[in-house]
Amino acid sequence: VERFQEEDAVRAIVLIGGGRTFIAGADIREFDKLRKSEQTGAARLREMLWRVEECSKPVVAAIHGTAFGGGLEVAMACHYRVAVAAAQVGQPEVKLGLIPGAGGTQRLPRLAGIARAVEMCAGGDPVRATEAEKAGIVDRLIEGDLLAGAIAFAREGIAVRKTRDLTVAPDDAALAAARETARKRQRGLMAPLKAIDAVAASARWSFEEGCRYEAELFRECLASEQSRGMIHVFFGERTVAKIPDIPPDTAVLPVRRVGVVGAGTMGGGIAMVFANAGIPVLLKEATQEALDRGLATITRNYANSVKRGRFTPQVMEERLALIRPSVTHDGFEDVDMIVEAVFEGMELKKKVFAELDRIARPDAILASNTSTLDIDEIAAATGRPQMVLGTHFFSPANVMRLLEVVRGRATSREVIATVMQLSKKLGKVGVLVGNCRGFTGNRMFGPYRREAQFLVEEGATVEAVDRALYDFGMAMGPLATGDLAGLDVGWRIRQEYRHLEPPGVRQPLAEDRLCEMGRYGQKTGAGWYRYGEERRATTDPEVDALVRKWAGEAGIPQRQIGPQEIVDRTIYALVNEGARILEEGYALRASDIDIIYVTGYGFPAHRGGPMFYADTVGLEKVYERICDLESQHGYWWRPAPLLKQLAESGGKFSK
Ligand code: NAI
Repeated sequence: VERFQEEDAVRAIVLIGGGRTFIAGADIREFDKLRKSEQTGAARLREMLWRVEECSKPVVAAIHGTAFGGGLEVAMACHYRVAVAAAQVGQPEVKLGLIPGAGGTQRLPRLAGIARAVEMCAGGDPVRATEAEKAGIVDRLIEGDLLAGAIAFAREGIAVRKTRDLTVAPDDAALAAARETARKRQRGLMAPLKAIDAVAASARWSFEEGCRYEAELFRECLASEQSRGMIHVFFGERTVAKIPDIPPDTAVLPVRRVGVVGAGTMGGGIAMVFANAGIPVLLKEATQEALDRGLATITRNYANSVKRGRFTPQVMEERLALIRPSVTHDGFEDVDMIVEAVFEGMELKKKVFAELDRIARPDAILASNTSTLDIDEIAAATGRPQMVLGTHFFSPANVMRLLEVVRGRATSREVIATVMQLSKKLGKVGVLVGNCRGFTGNRMFGPYRREAQFLVEEGATVEAVDRALYDFGMAMGPLATGDLAGLDVGWRIRQEYRHLEPPGVRQPLAEDRLCEMGRYGQKTGAGWYRYGEERRATTDPEVDALVRKWAGEAGIPQRQIGPQEIVDRTIYALVNEGARILEEGYALRASDIDIIYVTGYGFPAHRGGPMFYADTVGLEKVYERICDLESQHGYWWRPAPLLKQLAESGGKFSK
């Protein structure tokens, strides 16, 4: 810009990106370095943009692809912006716990007004160029060649127009509404509120003062645990695909057609997942009645999405047309992969797999959605154990992003590579886990929910336990989660495995008693809570009274329990079990466990997942607290050897 400014022959400047995009934003890896350096990259960019805006010749940004984050800040410092219709602009920094740091919160309201600027800076979602043009962010949409169009625009005799010289009309109502939305939809996050504060300053102060304030808030966010956690999750989601013994060039099998067995809660959802990705599904049920029920649920779910405006009735029809229901295995001889989601029971699963093995092509993948059973034992019922693995979807399968991909002893590398790649196509985050009881997610969830129950049995109220974890950031408290999933599920499993329980060790008693009373949770209208219209939960004082009575009979002393103890005991139970899983090699890395919890269990992303959270607390401190809990409560709190070792050597779970 400085050079062109000096050249007489140059009348205007067009700034355009090469390749696929204008500027997609900062290199996220840089943020870690930025934390350590005084002079942040944002500060350097801010100064550079000032000089671009100072240029005495008009500067036009020509946008294709994306102008995100620092990219949009660059474009806004230019005097004009033109874009192709397919381009997108946005300030997505909040998704990493940050705010724009190079004038974005000051220039955007000058171009688009306060309401649009807070929506973009606090929400972080991209805006299409067509909409950005209406909002005043983009001056003109260019059809045909972007560079030629931008040059033609620059030749129209445009004058220098500095964004920073524009004025901003105050809009307190928009700010108040944005704060309310942020508190509700981005609960516990600081960055959206800071972004709103920064945008608010644009209407009150000069551009320079506003930028100084923005810089201060940016640094606060950059230094926060929240942004560290969110950046950890960002990279963690990308690291799951790396599997040490399965190189990226491993051959994958085509998955063009699939079969799903069982059209219950999970099977129906799984069929939708495939149909949503455009993959035809044969859906097999045991009886016509169960099949009709399953299809009715699928249709209702799709109809709800149409009602909410997620897609058109035509899209619904297309998706439904991809699902072919049947009570026979007709067509299963042609599919590339079969996902089994019948009742949970080893004998039934073995029978189903033996049958599928007979029907399916020899190179078809056979996957089980089991949540508790041994994949190797299921695989042994077939003559192709190398083609068998677990695909553990989470309920509701069409909504939850997590997919635990369970590796059996014999599962081939190609099959794993195929399913890991498929998970992306299905819009899921596939995380490879080993074949242990409960795999990774549920194996950790057991101790977490056990402690939640113990806390209630020791004197905390049901509401206090759930409240403490909700305030910690969990999407839902552990007891309410039990009600949602059905308390009877765990109860049945416990009955089956009672003989494996270590003798003389304390077991939670309240949930079994609730089940004996027929209180299974939401589905029976009562569990830990009572449920009214539309399954809305209300506290049930009767439950707290009953638990006091049962605890009295069992001789459990009652005491006052505060929120910190509730969080420590439940979250550290997750961490301790997670450490065991890591050590035993059932998860590849600590960040995989974090991703499982953030994408499948409602763990707050801004805390980075349970293992990352433990790192931020400090493993020495976590270990000490666990030892302390062991001295109070015994058996269940034996610290995991890996935790002990890391604590003593000053190590961390995350590498
Ligand atoms: P469900 O009881 O809702 O559905 C099972 C369906 O399988 C029933 O509709 C039944 O008629 C059908 N079925 C039984 N035998 C069959 C056969 N031979 N051929 C075809 N269909 C048959 O059970 P849900 O909850 O869907 O569970 C299915 C599997 O998914 C289980 O292994 C469960 O452990 C697992 N799972 C369940 C989760 C949940 O939240 N419900 C979460 C993750 C996994």
